[in-house]
Amino acid sequence: MNDKPTYIPNTYGRRIDKPLRVRSAELMKTVLPKISMPDPTTDQIDLQNIFPESKEVWLEVGFGGGEHLAWQSNQNPNIGMIGAEPFINGVAKLVTQIDEQKLENIRIHFGDARVLMEALPDHSLNRLFVLHPDPWPKARHHKRRMISPWFFAEAERLIRPGGTLRVASDIPDYIRWTLMHSQSAVGFEWTAECADDWKVCPDDWPQTRYEAKAYREGRIPTYLSFIRI
Ligand SMILES: C[S@@+](CC[C@H](N)C(=O)[O-])C[C@H]1O[C@@H](n2cnc3c(N)ncnc32)[C@H](O)[C@@H]1O
Repeated sequence: MNDKPTYIPNTYGRRIDKPLRVRSAELMKTVLPKISMPDPTTDQIDLQNIFPESKEVWLEVGFGGGEHLAWQSNQNPNIGMIGAEPFINGVAKLVTQIDEQKLENIRIHFGDARVLMEALPDHSLNRLFVLHPDPWPKARHHKRRMISPWFFAEAERLIRPGGTLRVASDIPDYIRWTLMHSQSAVGFEWTAECADDWKVCPDDWPQTRYEAKAYREGRIPTYLSFIRI
């Protein structure tokens, strides 16, 4: 538990969009409590206890509608997956997928991922995903960007050596921003060796709803993978 967060609040915009449909609202009451992470502000997070069968734990920060996390969960049922998202309509979408597809290896932190990250033990993650973080394009809002010195320092603490950090964005300035901050993060190495490594989406990296929209609107995503050295 950390009384004084070291990050700046408000990396996200709205926390609610349309009112939830009756079924989604019901699942939020019946299913979400069973698959929620412990409250990181009051409880110790014991990942061994949460995922007793899993050798690896992956975290997705800002999962939006949860398509990527649900896909990864289907493909990797033996891995413990955590998703963090403060947007209620997105959380409700993932809860629905978990219920319909009977996904058993996902736990949700309904709130700011940074609060959870600060409560996770050192070297507890094998993969960390930040897919299409809110771009905050105006210079005076850059401090709201998820990728930051704080983020790289926490990612460095959390990801085991050999583990991976994946970041995607369709905003060229956000990619530049991420690469710039990665250069000060001595614990990470960008894995790209040629342009295809950031232009071509790897097979185990499914498209998110946000990314599909970017393609429709003519914005081409970039895919960054960093290894924790
Ligand atoms: C542009 S959307 C992308 C969603 C999803 N990753 C995708 O690709 O479809 C960015 C998401 O990050 C979430 N977000 C922003 N700040 C966050 C934070 N501090 N913790 C967790 N999620 C956050 C937002 O609520 C939003 O759902």
